[in-house]
Amino acid sequence: MKLAILGGSFNPVHLGHLWLADAALSVLGYDRIILVPAFISPFKPGARETSPADRLDMLAASIPGDPRIIVDNCEIKRGGVSYTIDTIADIRRRYCPAGKPGLIIGDDLVPAFSQWRRAEDIAAETDIIIAHRESAEPAAFPYPCTPLNNAIMELSSAAVRERIQNGEPWRSLVPQGARFIIEDRRLYGYTPPVFREDAGGGVCRTKVTHELIARVEAEVRSLVSPSRFLHSRSAALMAYDLCVHFRLDPDRGYLAGMAHDMAKSLPEEEMMRLACQEEGRNFSKLEQKKPSLLHGKAGAVLLRQKFGIEDEDILEAIRYHTTGRVGMGPLARVVYAADKIENSRGDVRGEVRDFSRFADLDSLFTAVLEDTVAFLRSNQMDLSAGTLKLLDAMHKGRNW
Ligand SMILES: [Fe+2]
Ligand SMILES: [Fe+2]
Repeated sequence: MKLAILGGSFNPVHLGHLWLADAALSVLGYDRIILVPAFISPFKPGARETSPADRLDMLAASIPGDPRIIVDNCEIKRGGVSYTIDTIADIRRRYCPAGKPGLIIGDDLVPAFSQWRRAEDIAAETDIIIAHRESAEPAAFPYPCTPLNNAIMELSSAAVRERIQNGEPWRSLVPQGARFIIEDRRLYGYTPPVFREDAGGGVCRTKVTHELIARVEAEVRSLVSPSRFLHSRSAALMAYDLCVHFRLDPDRGYLAGMAHDMAKSLPEEEMMRLACQEEGRNFSKLEQKKPSLLHGKAGAVLLRQKFGIEDEDILEAIRYHTTGRVGMGPLARVVYAADKIENSRGDVRGEVRDFSRFADLDSLFTAVLEDTVAFLRSNQMDLSAGTLKLLDAMHKGRNW
């Protein structure tokens, strides 16, 4: 197998790194590119503001769905200053490549290459590949080398860090996995927007990280049909927007919206089996007649079991998004409304969808409930007694 090494600090990994790996695979015919994050770069010994663990996590979360690009953490495991000559020996021993491994370096590193530890040995033991990073001209290099002839992507980790620090746009410059970690861990001086804590009564608040959202999203995608996934995503985005408008935490809204229908495609027997774990067989008359309504309760069980989420506000939002329930909290009301008015639905009144017209969540929620009840009635569809009780309570200004 022909393989090439692409080392660096990856502080953070950005699209330019993946671009170079892709070019080496496509243009030079390598079978595999190994990305190797440095523990301490010999040339940036002071750059320690981001831990090796964070840099490795960002890289691991950013590998594209391409088995030809892999990450090896040998330099981080080895510790100390990361010398390329040691890494080459290690990679050759463990991967047994066919012929010499390739070593991709940017033309920005060419002038100082002769100062690398055992530069001559590196040149003898690898096929050095020089990528354009700063100049489209061929670089003068004192050892045998192969030009990558790649188009220059004007992007560097330093530029990404600076943009984050300055509050300038940066998210599209790094792979999504790295973005989530930067935001979740507040790396490079990232400052998140501040939202008021919502007044939900949940005793256990789940810290909703972007990593968690990405995992739940992947699970939902695998459980439901593509069109159901689009509805879930649309409901998640609507829940996010409603949370921003009504000053709740939008990430919790997004997560609950994304997960609300995760059990919708399960067979009814499986829905009933899961829902039983929630509250025994205390199903309402309507749920007994129409077990598919149990997908909310089943979904809450799935979310708890698969992701360890015990946050009652989030679980309640998923559990009761079908029929609603008197006393449901703000997050549950948001998800109920988002499910009914999300933008992919074609049958929603504009007055209800334009939620900015509503000064408070209860007014919007009541309007959505009224529309839902009217729709069910006009289509002679079954109406849950709980939904009617809830609407009555909202009209009396008593959601408890
Ligand atoms: Fe649903
Ligand atoms: Fe739904």
